[in-house]
Amino acid sequence: MKIAVIGAGYVGLTTSCVLADKGSTVTCIDNDQSKLEKLAKGQVPFFEPGLQEVLDRTLANNKLTFTDQTVSAVKEADVVFIAVGTPPKATGEPDLTYLKTAIDDLASGITSYKTIVTKSTVPLGTNEWIHETLLENADPALFDVVSNPEFLKEGTALYDTVNPDRVVIGAKSARGASVVKELFAFTNAPVYETTLTGAEMIKYASNVFLAVKISFINEIASICDAFHVNVKEVAEGIGADPRIGPAFLRSGLGYGGSCLPKDLSALLYSAAGKQVDAHLLPSAAKVNDQQVNRYTAKLEEDLGILKQKRIAVWGLSFKPDTDDTRHSPAILLILSLIEKGAEVLAFDPLVKEVEGIVSQHDLYESVKEADALILATEWAVFNSVDWNRVRSLMKGNIVLDARNVLNHRTVTEAGLTYRAIGSGRV
Ligand code: UDX
Repeated sequence: MKIAVIGAGYVGLTTSCVLADKGSTVTCIDNDQSKLEKLAKGQVPFFEPGLQEVLDRTLANNKLTFTDQTVSAVKEADVVFIAVGTPPKATGEPDLTYLKTAIDDLASGITSYKTIVTKSTVPLGTNEWIHETLLENADPALFDVVSNPEFLKEGTALYDTVNPDRVVIGAKSARGASVVKELFAFTNAPVYETTLTGAEMIKYASNVFLAVKISFINEIASICDAFHVNVKEVAEGIGADPRIGPAFLRSGLGYGGSCLPKDLSALLYSAAGKQVDAHLLPSAAKVNDQQVNRYTAKLEEDLGILKQKRIAVWGLSFKPDTDDTRHSPAILLILSLIEKGAEVLAFDPLVKEVEGIVSQHDLYESVKEADALILATEWAVFNSVDWNRVRSLMKGNIVLDARNVLNHRTVTEAGLTYRAIGSGRV
């Protein structure tokens, strides 16, 4: 099949690479010239494990090309994926500027039958709107609109695209649905068919459920802390119940990234637009917003006021194995520490600089003369730290494990004081 993918971000580029690797001829479209130049030279514009090899292979096989010419690429294609960003506005409402431009551009390329597939996470009702808008400009016999939300996670984007848990297809016609089913048949994943808006809702409800689960365990962690109960043991104990499940019960600084915070706000915005009073979802967001304060307060229990204290912070990305810093709790934590007058020395294995925060060259550099160290993002490298060396470099001895991942004994044996929320210790 000939495929056009509009948008070369995490979703668009990964989808392009995987479909090209599975035998389709793919044109990936973006309006960012510098990104297109990099991609044409075979450079992945962001860090995503494994993607480089697939990009190299598909470029070498002439299965994947890049362009900024939407109309001509759409004219050539049997299937057009929309994978543009829908970033949040200050109100929480998703900004659909890129999506609207994509629809305007692709409308004039519908000169033969195409299946238009929306991968972007879009507000409830958007795919119906896309259908209506295209009807104004194109022959209804020449297109079908399909909502096919993407569930990939950054850091495992390639694996998730090749091995999805499920393929969700929202469609108005059997023809459109069958095209998408055929395209993803290689995954052997179960297919869930629903309406256009139903598929949009499955995407939002998935991400928002994950956000609620994280805020739930974070609230439990705070209560555990007050009673000296180990929250990791609690998470294991409750996660053994298949109705609850063990995933997404890691307590800590809270969720960040480009999806969970944005999708929760967007769903609330949609609900408010229909006068639906939501209670649980705003609470989940509130718990998440409180996490940074909870951790700075925890630090203040040991250090008193943080003014002029030197704090090392490990991790800048919103989670390990990515250089993405969007809505990173680690950065919110650092900004809060700076606001309180602390001096922060950060270290991240991948992120070099963000919002004026510069990563030290190595993790030991960051702890020199520090009064305290906070682990803010759980990169694997922090599991094999020489804690004796850390102890000898630090001025103080507090290690605040804001992701509940360090081994208490190893840290303590080096003469450091281990702190966490819900560590189970006094
Ligand atoms: C998420 C969804 O998982 C994915 O299905 C969707 O397509 C896009 O949004 P992503 O944003 O890449 O993926 O990251 P994810 O792995 O879900 O983590 C989100 C945030 O939650 C991170 O900040 C992470 O540190 C945090 N998290 C995750 C926790 O705090 N505790 C957990 O137990 C799990």
